[in-house]
Amino acid sequence: MKGFPNHFLWGGATSAMQIEGAYDVDGKGITTCDCKTAGSFSQRRQITYVDKDGNPGAISSSLGRALPEGAKQAVLDGYFYPSHNAIDFYHHYKEDIALMAEMGFKMFRLSIAWSRIYPIGIEDEPNQKGINFYKEVFKELHKYHIEPLVTIAHGDLPLYLENHYGGWANRELIDIFMKLAKTCFTEFKGLVKYWLPFNEMNDYLLMLDMFGNVSTKESHQESFQVIHNMLVANARCVKLAHEIDPENKVGSMICGIPNYPGSCDPEDILETRYRWEKGIYYTGDVQCFGRYPSFSKRLWDEYDVKMDTREQDFLDFENGTVDFYTFSYYMTNIVTTHEVKDMVQGNFANGARNPYLEYSEWGWSYDPKGLRYYLEVIYDRYHLPIIITENGLGAVDKVEEDGSIHDDYRIKYLQDHLHECKVAIDHGVDLIGYTMWGCIDLVSASTGQMSKRYGFIYVDIDDEGKGTGKRLKKDSFEWYKKVIATNGEEL
Ligand code: BG6
Repeated sequence: MKGFPNHFLWGGATSAMQIEGAYDVDGKGITTCDCKTAGSFSQRRQITYVDKDGNPGAISSSLGRALPEGAKQAVLDGYFYPSHNAIDFYHHYKEDIALMAEMGFKMFRLSIAWSRIYPIGIEDEPNQKGINFYKEVFKELHKYHIEPLVTIAHGDLPLYLENHYGGWANRELIDIFMKLAKTCFTEFKGLVKYWLPFNEMNDYLLMLDMFGNVSTKESHQESFQVIHNMLVANARCVKLAHEIDPENKVGSMICGIPNYPGSCDPEDILETRYRWEKGIYYTGDVQCFGRYPSFSKRLWDEYDVKMDTREQDFLDFENGTVDFYTFSYYMTNIVTTHEVKDMVQGNFANGARNPYLEYSEWGWSYDPKGLRYYLEVIYDRYHLPIIITENGLGAVDKVEEDGSIHDDYRIKYLQDHLHECKVAIDHGVDLIGYTMWGCIDLVSASTGQMSKRYGFIYVDIDDEGKGTGKRLKKDSFEWYKKVIATNGEEL
């Protein structure tokens, strides 16, 4: 076996809304994420709001459950919002980065909290304190020769842009976002060279299948428009990043969930192909090929979508194709047109249960070979260098009396998945990096829990935000250190 290439970018990944905390410190504005309560496996997170008459309320965060007419998202008394303090990376970043360095990280993926830089989004001048914070973080990373991989938008939006502009469905967001992107490329020039403008924009299409029963014509229209606007911004980011610093490299970031047919019924085969097209290729093709794929027309017809576009958008696509492809990988799904008796439940996991696979406590399938499958299919399609920017196991960890944490299940998960990466590399895939998701415990995006832990580093905070915040090394910490030291020879 060839094994991992020299200079492989080993590391870990996070997002601002899930680690930073300090939600109203040093001029940071409130975001949509700050209005999301905690949930659990069985209970969705809620979005809190104030209606047009000033009455408080809360609705499930699932797509299609729009706020009442005239209501505005808001932070309310009496609710617990896990992102407000998260793991307080804002005040612990030196300690946390030192631990990552101890493992030998070569890359650390983090995101910019938009409202730390532009608190409501539309200011003319950025908040200097926000810029300073990220500069210090990037400098701290470079002190240990860790390359930052920066997502500009990962799941949070200044609340003002949601409440007054309707979020990304509004084309005006493109220019507003480009101001943020330009500030980042200019201010962090020389400190950051790997950029991901958006996290998982394909989620908007994946969700159409997940919440089919509550999706409406308006939500279809909105999902496609949101993606179009993000794709235009993404393409403009590629061009601008290259202009500001030719060293910059800009990548896609796709939620990579391979679909398997439930049977060899040709209907299932076709349906599976269409699911790949809608969920995976639609956004990836525009980012990598610079144009909408031929099957887009079928999708727009199927959902009866009429998008608001400009001629310039399509030129932007052509002039702004990405330098590398990245994706998250957690599970595979089954697609079938037949009646399903045994359904899977869990966010992003839907449809039939695969009898050949096991499932996590949160309903996600355990499928290392699915990662190889995805890598090989995607590399064959785009021929671009690939970084796996998210992969990992969310599990409940137990702290022993002596402070040790024996997470052999996580080590096994990562061993199995990295083994399949090795096979894919051997088969010719140009995989250049792997940033394990949630390298330090963080707030789960789907459930808002801390107890769905991914990290090599344990953080003593519970689902109600209580705890010392102390950082502890799990067994997987030493294991990953050895993996990096041997460049993946020893898994
Ligand atoms: C990805 C998101 O889809 O899944 C992350 O980019 C998220 O933000 C990750 O945390 C894992 O999901 P969860 O729900 O376990 O946090």
